[in-house]
Amino acid sequence: MRKLVRQSGERNYALKVRTLSGTLPATGAHKGMARRPILEMTFASNLAYIEIAVAGCCQVARQLGFTDDECTDMCLALRESLNNAIVHGNHRGNGLTVRVRLSGVQGRIEMAVRDQGTGFNPDVVPDPTAPENLLKPCGRGIFLMRHIMDTIGFRFPRGGGTEVLLTRMARPQPGCQVPAHADAHGDRS
Ligand SMILES: Nc1ncnc2c1ncn2[C@@H]1O[C@H](COP(=O)(O)OP(=O)(O)OP(=O)(O)O)[C@@H](O)[C@H]1O
Ligand SMILES: [Mg+2]
Repeated sequence: MRKLVRQSGERNYALKVRTLSGTLPATGAHKGMARRPILEMTFASNLAYIEIAVAGCCQVARQLGFTDDECTDMCLALRESLNNAIVHGNHRGNGLTVRVRLSGVQGRIEMAVRDQGTGFNPDVVPDPTAPENLLKPCGRGIFLMRHIMDTIGFRFPRGGGTEVLLTRMARPQPGCQVPAHADAHGDRS
C-alpha cells in the first residue's frame, strides 16, 4: 500500500481510510437500515485501489455476520460499482476521488460509492439480457449489482457526482435464528 501511495505522486493521501465506529452495532440496534458509518475510504481515481477498498469492506461484512459466499458476491457488486465510479464517473481524472462509506448492523450492510463525475441516467442503461446485447463484452456491471444486492439506488447530489447505494441483508443460515428485523426489510427489488 505504501508503494501505491508513493507512486501516486500526489501531495495529499492517495488513499485515506477512516474507521468511524468504536464497536460494531449489534443485531436490532436500530430500526431500519443503520445509517451510522463504520468504515469510510476515499481514494484517487486509480483502479489499483479497488482491491484495497474491497478487502476492507469484506472484512467488515464478515464481522457483520455475512458468510464467505455472501461476501464474495457483495465484493463483486462493490468492485463493479467502484470500477464505474473511477472509469465512467471520474474518467480516471487526476485530482478526482472516489469515496466508499460502509454502514450497517449485524446481518445488514449498506455501502455507498460516490464519485465526482457528471452523473448519468440509470433508466436508459441498455439491458444486457436483450438479444442484441448478449454478445457484447461489457454492460453487465449494474445488472450484476442488481442481482447480488437486495437494493441498489442512485443519487445525484447537487454538488455533482453519482452516489450508488448498495444494501443487502444476510440470508438466514440453516439452523440459525432469523434476526428480528429480517421480515420487515427482507424485500428484494
Ligand atoms: N458512476 C457512473 N457515472 C457515469 N456513468 C455511469 C456510472 N455508472 C454507470 N454509468 C453508465 O452506465 C453504463 C452501464 O454501466 P455497467 O456497469 O452496467 O456497464 P459497463 O461499465 O459499461 O460495462 P461492464 O461493467 O460490464 O464492464 C456505463 O457504460 C456508463 O455509461
Ligand atoms: Mg461497469
